[in-house]
Amino acid sequence: MNIITCIAPVNIAVIKYWGKRDEKLILPLNDSVSATLSIKEMHAKTTVMASPNFKEDKIWLNGKEETFQNQRLQSCLQEIRRRAKQKADNKGDSISNWSIHVCSENNFPTAAGLASSAAGYACLVFALAQLYDVSGDISGIARQGSGSACRSLYGGFVRWHQGSALDGSDSIATQVAPESHWPEMRILVLVVSDKRKKVSSSAGMQNSVNTSELLKYRVSHCVPQRTEAIVKAIINKDFDTFADITMKDSNQFHAVCLDTFPPNVYMNDTSHAIVNLIHSYNTASEKNKVTYTFDAGPNACLYLLQSEVPKLLAVLNHIFPAGNESVEYLQGIPVEKQAVS
Ligand code: PMV
Repeated sequence: MNIITCIAPVNIAVIKYWGKRDEKLILPLNDSVSATLSIKEMHAKTTVMASPNFKEDKIWLNGKEETFQNQRLQSCLQEIRRRAKQKADNKGDSISNWSIHVCSENNFPTAAGLASSAAGYACLVFALAQLYDVSGDISGIARQGSGSACRSLYGGFVRWHQGSALDGSDSIATQVAPESHWPEMRILVLVVSDKRKKVSSSAGMQNSVNTSELLKYRVSHCVPQRTEAIVKAIINKDFDTFADITMKDSNQFHAVCLDTFPPNVYMNDTSHAIVNLIHSYNTASEKNKVTYTFDAGPNACLYLLQSEVPKLLAVLNHIFPAGNESVEYLQGIPVEKQAVS
């Protein structure tokens, strides 16, 4: 039996991916940019085993058996096995006819809008690549599990290029800058709710593609300029611009969700209270000190520089006192190290 265990981190987008031009290959309508969190804070841990004694492929997520007859899982596994077979003398080739068992768990709430599928699929694909001895870029394979998973395979600041090839070969992730480039950067995740979201990202974005006029405008007129500008801000360590773009992109993404019919409402009253608080906090200074972004859920991810953490935590503790169940803090740091085995 061959066994591999890997850990992969979550990534939080500052330019959001929302909308696909190809459902099966998971090709996005726009580029996106994210930072990868420290592995110890929020991660997926996955063990893959291959054995000639296993009768079929099986998977357990957070201790519960799930079906392997899932298009996305199948796409990832088939592509890894195809790449393993392509390599001559590959140890992966000999085991690629064996069935596998997969056990995966997250150390944070699953499907609560905290990028659990990104960490999960990045981890699975990384582990499978180790098992089958597949090298080279595997972000294009992780993308076929969950789009945003391709960004979790790199540390620091990462860009997922939408690409233009019909087969998706150029829709891959690349690193914009390692974590060491901007070591003062911190992410504070405010867990407002750990409940599963009612509308999955996949279903939500498909509804947006079908019904939102604002999504078309966002993709053609806003995201390309924002992506270039935020990459420049990251390279220049210009926090003020980075913060401005991050808040605007999060707000526009949620505006697209509301423009979707029927609307997808992901943020709640506590999320909006956090938005107002951050704007008041920033107004007290000349430049932005903190920025917020919300994925498809009510939980806030705040980016800020290390020097600001004690002051912001004091304010947060005052507004949302300890023991108040509406907000729980989790601190994460973007790290350079990527998925490790
Ligand atoms: O990769 P998915 O299908 O879980 O979609 C992720 C969508 C957002 O988290 C809202 C945005 C992003 O770029 O991560």
